[in-house]
Amino acid sequence: MVGRIFIASDHGGFELKSVLVEWMKEFGFDVVDLGTDSLDSGDNPDYVRKLCKSILNDSSKGILSCGTGIGTAIAANRFRGVRAALCTNEFMARMSREHNDANVLCLGGRVQGDDLAIGILSTWLNTAFSKDERHIRRLGKINDSDT
Ligand code: RB5
Repeated sequence: MVGRIFIASDHGGFELKSVLVEWMKEFGFDVVDLGTDSLDSGDNPDYVRKLCKSILNDSSKGILSCGTGIGTAIAANRFRGVRAALCTNEFMARMSREHNDANVLCLGGRVQGDDLAIGILSTWLNTAFSKDERHIRRLGKINDSDT
């Protein structure tokens, strides 16, 4: 069961975000769009912060997009409890859920076409964490690895 989904982007991921919001609404997901709302240049850490705070408060999942997905992934992984995965194909999307229990998916609006992005999103939303002991152990070690 997928709960509420938060989504945010900067200008580089704005057009992709619009496509993904429309697709999720069509399939009945409870989507909360945190912006941006235009192609005007902005700073993706501002949107990442909003999204990470929201998913951590709500124990839900989030989608981020920027031009490449890289900036949002780097910024999101600074938030304790966020496991953000930049995925460029459906295999990565499946693995990021089964093995890494990713709670944020990052996509690049300038990286792949809309159809592949939707395939990645659909795979990610429909794949559960495996709960295998080795993966739980590894996630525990990440949680314990303060710098
Ligand atoms: C904005 O031009 C671009 O740098 C940003 O969207 C993102 O790709 C950064 O990682």
